Amino acid sequence: MRPHAVLTGGAGFLGSHIAERLLTRDVDVTVLDNFSTGTPDNIAHLQGHNGFRLIEADVSNYISVPGPVDYVLHFASPASPVDYAELPIQTMKVGSLGTHNTLGLAMEKGARYLLASTSEVYGDPLVHPQPESYWGNVNPVGPRGCYDEAKRFAEALTTAYRTKHGVNTAIMRIFNTYGPRMRPNDGRAIPNFITQALGGLPLTVQGDGRQTRSVCYVDDLVDGALRLLFSDTSGSFKPATSSCICRPRSYTIGIAPTMTHCGTSSTPTVSVSPRT
Ligand SMILES: NC(=O)c1ccc[n+]([C@@H]2O[C@H](COP(=O)([O-])OP(=O)(O)OC[C@H]3O[C@@H](n4cnc5c(N)ncnc54)[C@H](O)[C@@H]3O)[C@@H](O)[C@H]2O)c1
Repeated sequence: MRPHAVLTGGAGFLGSHIAERLLTRDVDVTVLDNFSTGTPDNIAHLQGHNGFRLIEADVSNYISVPGPVDYVLHFASPASPVDYAELPIQTMKVGSLGTHNTLGLAMEKGARYLLASTSEVYGDPLVHPQPESYWGNVNPVGPRGCYDEAKRFAEALTTAYRTKHGVNTAIMRIFNTYGPRMRPNDGRAIPNFITQALGGLPLTVQGDGRQTRSVCYVDDLVDGALRLLFSDTSGSFKPATSSCICRPRSYTIGIAPTMTHCGTSSTPTVSVSPRT
């Protein structure tokens, strides 16, 4: 019998690529998604696949999946600043209740569990680049608090299920990832630059442009996610064992417009807006 993965958020940007890759690795995939920021269009090409199943569900509510489950991957969450500003309570619920429900499913089924966490757990970091021994600088009542604190809670709950219930968990802290199926208007830097450049618009740089980002192409991110999933690596936060998935190098956002310009025929102008 083929292994079976339950993937929350599988109709989103990253989830759709992970679903695709799991199927090519002969793993059956059940996607649970409420389409709050994702769309069935992202996985329409998988619908005819024998091993693929899509269930519309809000994983912040009780979830039940019949039969054996070998892997649970919790990727459901609004992820762009525009989305979680619009959906702050849903963001906190899916990071807390959704994580609780999916951990419960993994415990019930004896499945390996992978939590999609984020570099945002470091908040507005005071250390660059961030080693995993750095614990972060998060403002719980700031504009990103709902997302950052939801993910920090999710990491803590995942760790508690590992230590208390012996669930085989892993946590990956994902940094900025880009690639096909990102929404042009999702508010993250790379789709913003590309959309503005293609439209001949000024490129928006937030703040003074000196902030840095570590960026990763989606295929590399999926490679890392599946290597972690299929390994025995734990998600405990000792530097040697937790898992940051990112490029080893950061770019200064202020130089990104120069990079974007390579793909356009006009000289870009830059507009500066306050950083949220
Ligand atoms: N893309 C990145 O650069 C990045 C960086 C760091 C962390 N992450 C994490 O990776 C995961 C996926 O991010 P993404 O960029 O693909 O975002 P996305 O918005 O494209 O996908 C998220 C998916 O989760 C679904 N979802 C949200 N709440 C749900 C709920 N309560 N029940 C069921 N489904 C729900 C959405 O409909 C969507 O399909 C998120 O957990 C995010 O925090 C992404």
